[in-house]
Amino acid sequence: MTFLSDLRVLYHLALKPVRGTDHAGRLDSFYAGQAEDYDAFRARLIPGRASLMRDVLARTPDGGTWVDLGGGTGASLEMAAAELNRLRRVHVVDLSDALLAVTRRRVRERGWSNVETVRADATTWRPASGAADAVTLSYALTMIPDWFRAVDSAWAMLRPGGVIGVVDFYVSRRHPAAGRTRHGWAPRTLWPIWFGADGVHVSPDHLPALEWRFATLGLVEGRTRLPYLPFRAPFYRFVGRKPAAGTRE
Ligand SMILES: C[S@@+](CC[C@H](N)C(=O)[O-])C[C@H]1O[C@@H](n2cnc3c(N)ncnc32)[C@H](O)[C@@H]1O
Repeated sequence: MTFLSDLRVLYHLALKPVRGTDHAGRLDSFYAGQAEDYDAFRARLIPGRASLMRDVLARTPDGGTWVDLGGGTGASLEMAAAELNRLRRVHVVDLSDALLAVTRRRVRERGWSNVETVRADATTWRPASGAADAVTLSYALTMIPDWFRAVDSAWAMLRPGGVIGVVDFYVSRRHPAAGRTRHGWAPRTLWPIWFGADGVHVSPDHLPALEWRFATLGLVEGRTRLPYLPFRAPFYRFVGRKPAAGTRE
């Protein structure tokens, strides 16, 4: 990690125009010049990934299948490295070729023969290897325009009793459910504008949708400091289970 590497990322975040005629094209335009610097910068930007992966994989059986949707550079694999060998199959699904190239190199160098990288849309892709035991989305839901389809897709690919883990930025509703964090007018108004400039759509609806779809096993709502900014952005970490009875289809 160097200041120069940070500068390259900040240029792509703040200044470089994003081109492309569809979502995949826009993602590659956004990530192509920062793929190699991505991990060092994002490690300080996005908290909760390691503990989410640990929590989800602790609930995933030996011989199980794990799908990381919007897996990017495959950094989450490193956080789950101790668990990878006991899984039968791991799929890292992403639309950005630039980031997947980093994942492919990582998988090759680490010799993870059970890991497959897949260039596909998280809203429609399904594992050919059968139902998944675990699905994770780390800072991906906010970058998927049809996020509700990604949640449906995670539900559809999980076996009954399977586990989902999501960590992401968000804002609360003006009137959140009892026991949930409430953000004031300024964060609810300003964070969507600030993140929106980079195609990151923080929403008051992601967390309620996850809690509606899945039985909540664990939820943390917190705030994190952003590199080079004096503000702390709200994020959540959610772990849920697809009910065995398959209710709320
Ligand atoms: C902020 S990055 C997070 C990457 C990684 N999960 C991490 O924690 O470092 C969001 C990722 O979502 C991917 N993405 C966005 N929309 C997608 C879609 N419809 N299908 C698959 N991946 C998508 C992007 O290409 C990007 O890799």
